[in-house]
Amino acid sequence: GLAAKPAQHGVATSAPQQSPAALATIVFGSQTGNARRIAERLAADIERSGGAVRLVRADAYPLRELKTERLLYVVISTQGEGDPPDDARAFVEHLAGKRAPRLDDLRFAVLGLGDSSYPQFNAVGRLLDQRLAALGAQRLFARGEADLDIGTVADPWLQQAVERARELEPKPVQRASVVPLRHAAVKVHDRDHPFAAELLANQRITARDSDRDVRHVELSLEGSGLDYEPGDALGVWPRNAPALVDDVLDTLELDGESPVTVSDETLTLRTWLESRRELTRLARPFVARHAAVSGQGALNRLLAPEQAESLRGLLESHQVIDLLRAWPARWDADDLVAALRPLTPRLYSIASSRKLVGEEAHLTVARTAWDAFGRSHVGAASGFLAAAGEDSRIPVFIERNERFRLPADASRDVIMIGPGTGVAPFRGFLQERAAIGASGRHWLLFGNPHFRSDFLYQVEWQEALREGRLDRLDLAFSRDQADKIYVQDRLREHGRELHAWLEGGAHLYVCGDASRMARDVEKALLAILAEHAATDHDGASERLEALRREGRYARDVY
Ligand code: 2AM
Repeated sequence: GLAAKPAQHGVATSAPQQSPAALATIVFGSQTGNARRIAERLAADIERSGGAVRLVRADAYPLRELKTERLLYVVISTQGEGDPPDDARAFVEHLAGKRAPRLDDLRFAVLGLGDSSYPQFNAVGRLLDQRLAALGAQRLFARGEADLDIGTVADPWLQQAVERARELEPKPVQRASVVPLRHAAVKVHDRDHPFAAELLANQRITARDSDRDVRHVELSLEGSGLDYEPGDALGVWPRNAPALVDDVLDTLELDGESPVTVSDETLTLRTWLESRRELTRLARPFVARHAAVSGQGALNRLLAPEQAESLRGLLESHQVIDLLRAWPARWDADDLVAALRPLTPRLYSIASSRKLVGEEAHLTVARTAWDAFGRSHVGAASGFLAAAGEDSRIPVFIERNERFRLPADASRDVIMIGPGTGVAPFRGFLQERAAIGASGRHWLLFGNPHFRSDFLYQVEWQEALREGRLDRLDLAFSRDQADKIYVQDRLREHGRELHAWLEGGAHLYVCGDASRMARDVEKALLAILAEHAATDHDGASERLEALRREGRYARDVY
């Protein structure tokens, strides 16, 4: 029941508090909030055991304090291509770099979070763990490498971390925490206690003949006490489609009504599969278990290290049902539930501002769907939302995103790069800035395959342009001509102007696909900075880093 949220509860996000009394420092780097949540839990657990602790987001950590630190816990995720989260770049670079200090008096432990279907699994956690040791620090216990089923690795790691902190805490115990964590005094809706939001609208906003089924979804937050700011995300707890659950039950010849007990909780097998277990995402641990249960040599061979690429292909193309069908096996209901990983909520950038829509949250949801192995496949949450009818109740919570905020100064200009559903938060940004009468300018860059069928919120942007709430709109419809045109091409075309906006103090935001779009947009930004600020590539990188540090280059990418 802890609901510590960074900005509200004193977790340092910009200017960390000094805390000579805190023995343990927890530094976290988090892209989607998982690492942050674990770090918050660790802080709370250490506190509860009587220890003093400070909790600092990596980009707010004063690097010069490393030398005087005594106990450091690092909780950090690795992004798909092996990169650190945006908020931890400087921290990782500092520790990995030549100028990192000797850390002979430091004790530490690292918990990495990652996704084992990527070859660079937990690369950042590994790197930090090795570097801290190489700099002379003493590793208290082995690095944890959590996979998508985070708790399996994180829970025992946290337990160890709390115990070791307690052993090292000087007696008598001082309670001098700088993290005033809120205990469950008020009943609030959070990740573990979601609010059942009424669905108010679910409307397709791509044309019928578009390849993409994108929905505008409106949910009621009335009576929930939930509040959000533009930039925040809505967490949605999906339910697997009943037809998919039926397929799994039929394939395994199991009875959905049979009771299954896992960690002291008894539910019917159907309920476990529908509401508590991942069926749409396949991960290595389940494949390994299935290989053992089915006794299939071919599947076992896929798990060998030299088959990593093939395994990755399998994980990306198969859902649980496909594996069960391709490699038949007899599963026992209890074993099955224990082997499948827990269902996790999906995060959607909120596409509205409370100042305009009141007690509602709007989302822009692309329904993920593809055909394979003779059946149609859908993503868990996008399928769940797209299939939801009026009166449906959707379990939701707010996931704060402090790194993706409008400028505090409303006279600042704002540049928003959001192709595809990445445009969602910018709809909220524009609503907010209009509501507060912001004097700064607004520039939106949007892209999608086709003008005619995929121009999300076309009418709204055009109206905003007419009314002066939006100053510039640049569009990149990638497939309306022979050669692809992407948002970064538009950026390059208008490089001089972009640079001028930045020189004038503009804040720049990127939202959407991480692995390709955000990477290519960053390259374009570097090229523009190099050209118009008359500097070289290193100079451009430094300028972009500076913008990032000032909170003027923020990304919400996934
Ligand atoms: P495409 O699918 O035609 O290649 C939203 O998904 C838009 O982003 C689409 O128009 C898509 O184009 C485009 N897109 C694909 N890869 C991209 C990249 N590397 N950089 C920017 N946009 C990209």
